[in-house]
Amino acid sequence: MACSQIMLRIAILLLLLLTISSSSSNLPDQDSISSSMPSLLYPRKNVSFTARLIHRTSPESPFYDPNAKCDDLIGDGIRTSLARAHFLGKRTSILAESLINARSPVRVIGVDFVMSYSIGTPPVKTFGIADTASHVIWLQCQPCDRCYKQSIPFYNRDESSTYKSLPCGPRCDSFGDTTCYSSSPWGAICRYHSDYMEKSSSNGYLSTETIMLPDNGITGEAILEDMIFGCGTENTDRDTKPKPPGVIGLSNRTSSLIGQLAYPRFSYYIFTNSSGTHGWIHFGLSATTSGPGTSLVPNDFGHYRLSLVGLMVSGQDIDYDFSSYNQAPEYEGGFVIDTGTLYTVLDEPIFNALREKIAYEVYDEEPQSYNEIDHGTRFELCYKNAPDYPEVEFQFANQMELMLCKSNTWVKVSNGLHCLAILKASEGISVLGMYQQRHLQVGYDLSINQVTMKYQVPCPDNIE
Ligand SMILES: *[C@@H]1O[C@H](CO)[C@@H](O)[C@H](O)[C@H]1NC(C)=O
Ligand SMILES: *[C@@H]1O[C@H](CO)[C@@H](O)[C@H](O)[C@H]1NC(C)=O
Ligand SMILES: *[C@@H]1O[C@H](CO)[C@@H](O)[C@H](O)[C@H]1NC(C)=O
Repeated sequence: MACSQIMLRIAILLLLLLTISSSSSNLPDQDSISSSMPSLLYPRKNVSFTARLIHRTSPESPFYDPNAKCDDLIGDGIRTSLARAHFLGKRTSILAESLINARSPVRVIGVDFVMSYSIGTPPVKTFGIADTASHVIWLQCQPCDRCYKQSIPFYNRDESSTYKSLPCGPRCDSFGDTTCYSSSPWGAICRYHSDYMEKSSSNGYLSTETIMLPDNGITGEAILEDMIFGCGTENTDRDTKPKPPGVIGLSNRTSSLIGQLAYPRFSYYIFTNSSGTHGWIHFGLSATTSGPGTSLVPNDFGHYRLSLVGLMVSGQDIDYDFSSYNQAPEYEGGFVIDTGTLYTVLDEPIFNALREKIAYEVYDEEPQSYNEIDHGTRFELCYKNAPDYPEVEFQFANQMELMLCKSNTWVKVSNGLHCLAILKASEGISVLGMYQQRHLQVGYDLSINQVTMKYQVPCPDNIE
């Protein structure tokens, strides 16, 4: 296959940062409602389950495009990774503006890995993008005031006997920036408003429903009752192609899927073989959270921030002092692990030190760059055929090391160049992307604020 990293092209989710924020209606007196609420605000679900992650390039994905071209996909991955870093860092930059206004716009709600599930009674099959930077599970919810196109039937709350909107009160308030909407046909209910990049957004009602995960041959069917989700009744997306019906938020928030589980753990494993990119995601006690681990750095964004203490090339430190980088508030720096970024993005000074060190090691070949046509974004360091690429290793706090195998470090582009699959950005923040997380079992245990990583199989050394 000419370009098997296609599979990894991630057209991502810029979807991010599903901030539940407010619309501005004022609340009437909510005492009567709140006093009827159970005192346990979060009856967390003691359920463990496993779901397949379906990649968009899989023929099973509703977004499968057999005509997608290799370099377009790589270009897409570059643009969306940079835009994602921009959003995770919540900074404005000229680069991000130019990406947004580029001729082929960055997808706002991308479709990388989706998880299929059913919702409601009777159940409706649907799916959502698995996103560690989103705070809620949401989906387009009819009757819609405004819904964008999707390629599968809509979920309709009026046709489900288990749908309940979440009333105003302490539970609603506890999710953060929610507001009450007092003039709804159902009385005073809890409203969410999610702004994405650019002009995309999802608005609607926080609600509860029964969510089901199908039997997948590993764990049986899982039934999760009264799950909080966002019933999106006003959704916009600037792209006219069908989009995924919604998102599965996996951030460190009580409103996310993970925040609603008794055992707040999950792990995923994605890999590329000759038939494409595949993946699994495990929740609760099914998650693999053993192995070498590193502490998460607590932050207010619900992000999974790691403490990067070193970066080595062929066993030697690059010329960069990480100590102040890790102290930086998130909007100025720091290192985040993310499911919605394809290519790892490094803050400029770190990237430059890495590039310099690699170029020094590959002294017998002239470095080149790969320009992604017409958007000014690129892979900065490419070689025609360096026989021995130096090893790149990330070092995290608690002595956790991530040695990148060759296939996770380099990507082959159309003119035969092998490019370092890591991008430079001046967003402050750095992000570990999914291209670099392939073949790893990555585990998150929020009860102890820890991330673990280990190769599930020997990582292949071929460059795709
Ligand atoms: C969850 O369920 C398992 C078995 O079904 C049980 O052993 C465990 O104690 C339960 N944990 C909690 C926190 O309720
Ligand atoms: C690739 O992995 C998937 C998922 O495990 C499997 O179904 C498929 O048969 C594998 N393909 C090849 C060619 O090994
Ligand atoms: C995750 O959220 C919990 C509860 O708000 C908090 O105590 C914990 O420090 C957070 N973890 C991280 C890594 O931010």
